Amino acid sequence: MTVPYYTYAETFLEQLPKGVFLTVQGETQTNTMTIAWGHIGVIWGKPTFIAYVRYSRHTYALLREAKDFTINVPTTDLLQEALKIAGTQSGRDIDKFATAKLTLLPAKQVKTPIIAECGLHYECRILYTQTQEPALIPEALKARYYPQPDTHIMFFGEIVDVYRLD
Ligand SMILES: Cc1cc2nc3c(=O)[nH]c(=O)nc-3n(C[C@H](O)[C@H](O)[C@H](O)COP(=O)(O)O)c2cc1C
Repeated sequence: MTVPYYTYAETFLEQLPKGVFLTVQGETQTNTMTIAWGHIGVIWGKPTFIAYVRYSRHTYALLREAKDFTINVPTTDLLQEALKIAGTQSGRDIDKFATAKLTLLPAKQVKTPIIAECGLHYECRILYTQTQEPALIPEALKARYYPQPDTHIMFFGEIVDVYRLD
């Protein structure tokens, strides 16, 4: 890592609620999905990004097979349609890279590639995975976010590289 993990945090955290790409190379397929939830911080002395992925996502199954993932952050407004495709369609049904006209490039430190059209990238090695404890979620949030038992799984990714390509 040539710069500290937090160098581009403001750019990242500003874009996160609007959508960033979580890309993962599973055993048989590479896929990306839009996420808007996540945390950047430190655990066990390691810079970490935590992604929240529901069981029902195809990306969840691929993450279970993978050792790493990348977070690809749009730094222009040109990728709104791509974020919509990646956030509403499933890699079970389509090749999102072809449909959304996104190009894959090799990452620097991990097996999962990055998305060339994005200006900021985090390369993350999966360190730890944790399920939510439904009994501990406040009732109002449970009613709003989990009418079905489809909770989020937290994927803790150690940030092994961060860089801009724009
Ligand atoms: C703006 C936006 C943010 C989203 N954030 C998340 C998220 O943080 N976690 C999640 O599990 N799904 C999130 N989704 C939904 C997934 O992106 C969506 O279900 C996607 O189609 C899953 O693709 P997959 O089946 O190929 O994994 C979001 C969707 C949008 C449009």
